[in-house]
Amino acid sequence: MKQRIAVYPGTFDPLHNGHMNLIERCTTLFDEVVVAVLRNSAKRPLFAGPERVEMIGEQLANLPNCRVESFSGLLVDFVDQMNACCVVRGLRAVSDFEYEFQMALMNKRLNPRVETLFMAPKEDYTYLSSRTVKEVFFLGGNLEGLVPERVLARLQKRKAEDGL
Ligand code: PNS
Repeated sequence: MKQRIAVYPGTFDPLHNGHMNLIERCTTLFDEVVVAVLRNSAKRPLFAGPERVEMIGEQLANLPNCRVESFSGLLVDFVDQMNACCVVRGLRAVSDFEYEFQMALMNKRLNPRVETLFMAPKEDYTYLSSRTVKEVFFLGGNLEGLVPERVLARLQKRKAEDGL
């Protein structure tokens, strides 16, 4: 039978528990989930692409039908390369909708074979974003329960290295 493969794309700078919750729920819906890290983001990431991939790989170690890859270029081309049928995106709030809707429709136009599935995050994480994680961390706030411990350790290492 044909495998149902989903791609969960993002910048993941860094991965947080809202992402992890979505990934874990996706693994029960699809035969395989490919977490796809955008390599060359215009957002000037805190962590370089390979480090984001490594961080995610460590977190996925216990999820057998899930792996991490990086990509550049068009998402729909990457989805084709993976033989995937679907892009999964989290929709936290109404404010996410416009950007996500534009992206889903553009992707559909570029490759009508690819569907986009929107998932609501677990309610504990509806306010969580990588941007707020970084801001709270560098201002000394408590991120317990919001990011995986390994991610927190990487943030602490980065802070120490950069003398921040
Ligand atoms: O975590 P993010 O930054 O919201 O993820 C955005 C991402 C990586 C899904 C998006 O920027 C993307 O798909 N980039 C690849 C370029 C692309 O395919 N653009 C056309 C769709 S509008």
